[in-house]
Amino acid sequence: MSARRALILGAMVRTIGAYPSGWRHPDAHDDPAQDAEILREIARIGEDAGLDYLFFGDWLATGPDLEFANPYLLARIDPVSAVTYLAGVTSRIGLIATVNTTYADAYTFARSSASADVLSGGRVGVNFVTGAEPRAAGNHGRDLHADNATRYDRAEEFVNAVRRLWESWAPDAWIADKIGGRLIDPAGLHAADHDGEHIRVTGPLNTARPPQGQLPIVHAGTSERSRALAARHADLALIGAPTAELAAAARVELRAAAVAAGRDADDIRIIAPVLPVVAETSAQAQAIVDDLLALVPLDEGGGVPDAFPENRSLASLATAFALDLDPTIGVDAIVTAEHTDALPDAAAALVHRVQRLTGRSIGGAHALTWRPVLALWAVPAAFVVGTGAEVADHLAQWYESEAIDGFNVLSAYQPGQFRAFAELVVPELRRRGLLSDRADPAVTLRERLGLADPVPAHTPQPA
Ligand SMILES: Cc1cc2nc3c(=O)[nH]c(=O)nc-3n(C[C@H](O)[C@H](O)[C@H](O)COP(=O)(O)O)c2cc1C
Repeated sequence: MSARRALILGAMVRTIGAYPSGWRHPDAHDDPAQDAEILREIARIGEDAGLDYLFFGDWLATGPDLEFANPYLLARIDPVSAVTYLAGVTSRIGLIATVNTTYADAYTFARSSASADVLSGGRVGVNFVTGAEPRAAGNHGRDLHADNATRYDRAEEFVNAVRRLWESWAPDAWIADKIGGRLIDPAGLHAADHDGEHIRVTGPLNTARPPQGQLPIVHAGTSERSRALAARHADLALIGAPTAELAAAARVELRAAAVAAGRDADDIRIIAPVLPVVAETSAQAQAIVDDLLALVPLDEGGGVPDAFPENRSLASLATAFALDLDPTIGVDAIVTAEHTDALPDAAAALVHRVQRLTGRSIGGAHALTWRPVLALWAVPAAFVVGTGAEVADHLAQWYESEAIDGFNVLSAYQPGQFRAFAELVVPELRRRGLLSDRADPAVTLRERLGLADPVPAHTPQPA
């Protein structure tokens, strides 16, 4: 392979755990009101391991329905606050904050992100998303969540406006000539003058020039318009990638789209989330998955809360797969060979996968029951389970086959699984020469990611 840049490795931080039952694990952080402490701990672990960045997603609404499906979305520190807070307690790791371009104000976001970049010494990146939560509309004075085309029209304007605002101050505009008594060169202060259909902002920005000039840009999305936005602007494109084949196809497409947009194919790097479950031995890692699945709340017939999802009963599993299950058995009934002989293909694949993930088996000493089968079906997750070397094999294989350029690592619960990843997987990847060298303390996120010098966002006009 040619001089391919190092595998990008960041952590997608969900403090109460990325798997919905993770917060119930005995060692797990479970209270967002206490996030300050766990954020510091996660930052320490990530920085000691030499990860490239901590990544904070966002969601602009909450409600009781999220308790079971996506509890990490219920209540959390807003991403710019998290990044700004961590800027003060870290010194090397990158910090990436998500912003929802459908609802955010461009001037306010340019200001807060530039501020965080100043405070962190140039370690902040931004993830532009258009949002998928319709309830966000009601929280921002809108009647409806806009359609895909309108959201991406606004996103294009938002990114352009923010990039221009970041360049409000020319690099040499702040003179601070104590003897001569001149503080600034007014000619170096530039208007943004973005006058679009969705966003109007004059500038200049009343924040010092961010050390990186242009902050590294991430974009997460799936649609055609999402790809076009990423092709034009993104240094990192965050995609959902269920298989290496799909990731490789998306990567080829995004690189080609970047070239069509006048950039080099290598200017865009494709990253995907991954959810490793790691332990010293494969059996221990399987036991963790088994525990996580056992902690998924199921409808066992004794009554459930109002917001409980409908798909959490054996009856719904039976209906979905057209299974002929005895309606009197409970979720802890053992799955027998008779059951599996008769299973349709999709159900057989699910049962097979649960056995592989949990170490349980049909007819074995550690018998398979319906509980983990129902739990994984009701709360699906693309777990990668094993020892440090086994998980490293998986990540390396995706990277070396050019399916992906890097990963946003999710941890099923915090801090235990993040620490296990940092201690068991990261050294394996480093030993194999896949990671960049530990960064110099002075390095910016742009430098750490090996990004080219930023292209100016506009030909600046005097303010
Ligand atoms: C891997 C990944 C992570 C995402 N993270 C977020 C997020 O944190 N907050 C958010 O509002 N949307 C997030 N999104 C959703 C996208 O921003 C986008 O709103 C959604 O996919 C709909 O747009 P699309 O039609 O272009 O895909 C994410 C999407 C992907 C693929």
